[in-house]
Amino acid sequence: MNLHIVDSGSGPAKTIVFLHGFPFNHTMWRTQAAVLNGRFRTVLYDHRGHGQSEVGSGQYLFEFFVDDLLALLDRLQIQKTYLCGLSMGGYMALRAAERAMDRIEGLILCDTRCEADSNEAKLKRAKAVRTIEEKGVSAFCEDFLKACFSSYTYRENPALVADVREMIMSTPVPGIIGTSIALATRTDTSAILPKLKVPTLILVGEDDSITPPEAAKTMQTLLPRAELHTIPHAGHLSNLENPDAFNKYFVDFLRRQSA
Ligand code: MLT
Repeated sequence: MNLHIVDSGSGPAKTIVFLHGFPFNHTMWRTQAAVLNGRFRTVLYDHRGHGQSEVGSGQYLFEFFVDDLLALLDRLQIQKTYLCGLSMGGYMALRAAERAMDRIEGLILCDTRCEADSNEAKLKRAKAVRTIEEKGVSAFCEDFLKACFSSYTYRENPALVADVREMIMSTPVPGIIGTSIALATRTDTSAILPKLKVPTLILVGEDDSITPPEAAKTMQTLLPRAELHTIPHAGHLSNLENPDAFNKYFVDFLRRQSA
């Protein structure tokens, strides 16, 4: 798979790899990469089927996204790294930690969960794929946007809603369908959490209805070294909806890691 990667280079001692959510792309992490101001090597990339990365057959299992991440670490000769993932990116970070714990220096888990899809979630995926096939991707996109944002953001920040709409609509349709199906195939990573002794920051939008604060609390309870903060005026896209609050916790956590 040819993946589109933005690598700030090998100068700084520590690395952070950013993992975007579905169906977005690496640009959702621009502000967080910028705020680190060269203190970390930052690697942003588009998952297969998203952004400028190759789509391939569009037939994916969730595990393939984790294969891509571990292959990318090898390719960029990153022995150990922080992983910062939102939602699908968080699922990937936890599964990568389960497969290759020695490669993980720390985790930033945003608006995500450790459980696999429930029956209800699998049926929602079936509905989403049906909507795309029957009504087109814009019908899916409008439903998804409403679920993503807090009602505050949806009402008060139309420019952000428009940016995210653009991100979704520019994602190749086989990538959206293939990833929807793949997300239902991910494994439950709850069992690994008590063994993950790395420093972990968990952030969640107070109004996240896709991966709600209770899911974040469950991860914090299971992880030995996790701190959890709730982001006000934010739903599922907390880093975009309230970047000031998000970045305060994000920068403070990473400053402590590099001290
Ligand atoms: C995401 O933001 O990555 C998705 O909402 C994840 C999901 O649908 O489970």
